[in-house]
Amino acid sequence: MPTWMGWIEHAVLKEGSMSFSSTKALLLVPSLGAFFFACQKGDPATPPEGNGDSGPAVSAEPSVPSYEEIVLPAEPQRPGDPDAGYRALLNEAYVPCGVPYSAYSSVYGVAPESDRVPGREGLNAELAYDLTAYKTPGGVQLVTSNCLTCHAGRINGKLVVGLGDANRDFTLNQTATAEGVGLLISDPAERAEWRKWADRIAAIAPWAVLDTVGVNPADSFTGVLFAHHEPKTLAWSKTPLIALPATPVVLPVDVPPWWRMKKKNAMFYNGEGRGDHARFMMTASILCTSSVEESRAIDRYFPDIRAWITSLSPPAYPYPVDAALAGKGRSVFERTCSRCHGRYGEPGSYPNKVIPLEEIGTDPALVLDQAEFSAQFATWYKESFFGETSRLEPQRGYIAPPLDGIWATAPYLHNGSVPTVLALLDSKSRPQFWTRSGDSNDYDPQALGWRHTPLDHGKDGEKNSAAKKRLYDTSRDGYRSTGHTFGDALTDEDRGAVLEYLKTL
Ligand code: HEC
Ligand code: HEC
Repeated sequence: MPTWMGWIEHAVLKEGSMSFSSTKALLLVPSLGAFFFACQKGDPATPPEGNGDSGPAVSAEPSVPSYEEIVLPAEPQRPGDPDAGYRALLNEAYVPCGVPYSAYSSVYGVAPESDRVPGREGLNAELAYDLTAYKTPGGVQLVTSNCLTCHAGRINGKLVVGLGDANRDFTLNQTATAEGVGLLISDPAERAEWRKWADRIAAIAPWAVLDTVGVNPADSFTGVLFAHHEPKTLAWSKTPLIALPATPVVLPVDVPPWWRMKKKNAMFYNGEGRGDHARFMMTASILCTSSVEESRAIDRYFPDIRAWITSLSPPAYPYPVDAALAGKGRSVFERTCSRCHGRYGEPGSYPNKVIPLEEIGTDPALVLDQAEFSAQFATWYKESFFGETSRLEPQRGYIAPPLDGIWATAPYLHNGSVPTVLALLDSKSRPQFWTRSGDSNDYDPQALGWRHTPLDHGKDGEKNSAAKKRLYDTSRDGYRSTGHTFGDALTDEDRGAVLEYLKTL
């Protein structure tokens, strides 16, 4: 990477350490999501049970739950055309700001084959899957970001659109890099476009940095982007219109796979995305949009994108499966797990249940922060263009997700704190501190998930900065791997059978 990054490093950022991945990451767009601003009111978290030693384990005879589980009902969705949706997803510029193409192409050549996906048109055909070309009304050619920044991932080396990217690096603050790009641009119209984009990156940058590779900050910066827009007009405001905490709280989130949306009645881990899903999905454009008119034009084709997303099926498990064992696992699963995760095959069912924090016991930070601080954001949302047809309604728990294609979506739980399904189903075996390579070929078909190395120390005990970024430390708030102890009571044999069954979903 001799050119762009090297150039900027020489010109302005002598102290800064940057990498190729940071350049890619800086084209990020928000996801939708979540609004949680923690810790303004002291410590809201009642710490959940420790690993495996308490919590409402489910036995062979499920007891009546003592907490209120909520079932989220289906709501009407706008119809769309999945093929048109795929085309739009890969070719339309729904995040309409970015880096002038002249600056981009002075650094990067055409994308290698391994970074391309089929169905891309014009200039897009030469760009990596996570970048989209856009000519502004004023005629400036830009390279912008798209949904696949976070929603395309690799498994066994293969890029899968709709799989969450479990290896993207969000550990660097992008402000300086975005400023540095300006040194590559002299044309005034191009500079104006660059400035717009760099200002927005600067606004979210502190909210888009995590210290661990492989988890995603999108939930944390989406609220910040709302705060920087006037709700009625969606005009950009340089200063936030909703007070943000002085110290950013950035929570780690694992990106869920899109194929779940076929079954889900609400979006997001805490079920807060209600009403018209297509309208909610397009909130990701708010990194760049500045008017209702612009947003409405983008919204016109989002029912098609939603239709494509809900047409997706997971990739099939690529290794042998012991059918007899899986059959046995199916009955254990239906006895122990189906009441939350549903039934698979014919006839299938999926209950769309939110399991309250007290019962699920997984890290509460995401839910508590969103629940506690969402009032202003809910009001913003309601008053805004997005609130015309969709609603922001955080629940006090996590949705039990559909488990289709679960073999491919490691790491597990909403915060990606558990590296394999096997460890998820036996809470005492979950590593407290662990690391993995980030190479999607490091797949463990026995444990279903990422091969990893348990460590005897957390972040504080790691001196090597590269190793530290790759260390997942479950002793910290937001990163805990507690709860979901429903597999603990199973015998090893039954657990193995359930694992085999999960491979077939
Ligand atoms: C910067 C990363 C990022 C980008 C870009 C992004 N998302 Fe997401 N997306 C996430 C994360 C993280 C979640 C999980 C948030 C949660 O559930 O709290 C998510 C959740 C979702 C979900 C809900 C899935 C479920 O099971 O509930 C959908 C649908 C979705 N995104 C669609 C999109 C679309 C469409 C785009 C582009 C217009 C997009 N996202 C752009 C990170 C991103
Ligand atoms: C009481 C409801 C409930 C029961 C019973 C239950 N689960 Fe879950 N499960 C959940 C919830 C809620 C989550 C999401 C928790 C989170 O992300 O914090 C989850 C998450 C998971 C995940 C991880 C999903 C992901 O993508 O990260 C797997 C795998 C899973 N459950 C498998 C099982 C199996 C197998 C059983 C039976 C042995 C089971 N569950 C029993 C509620 C339940």
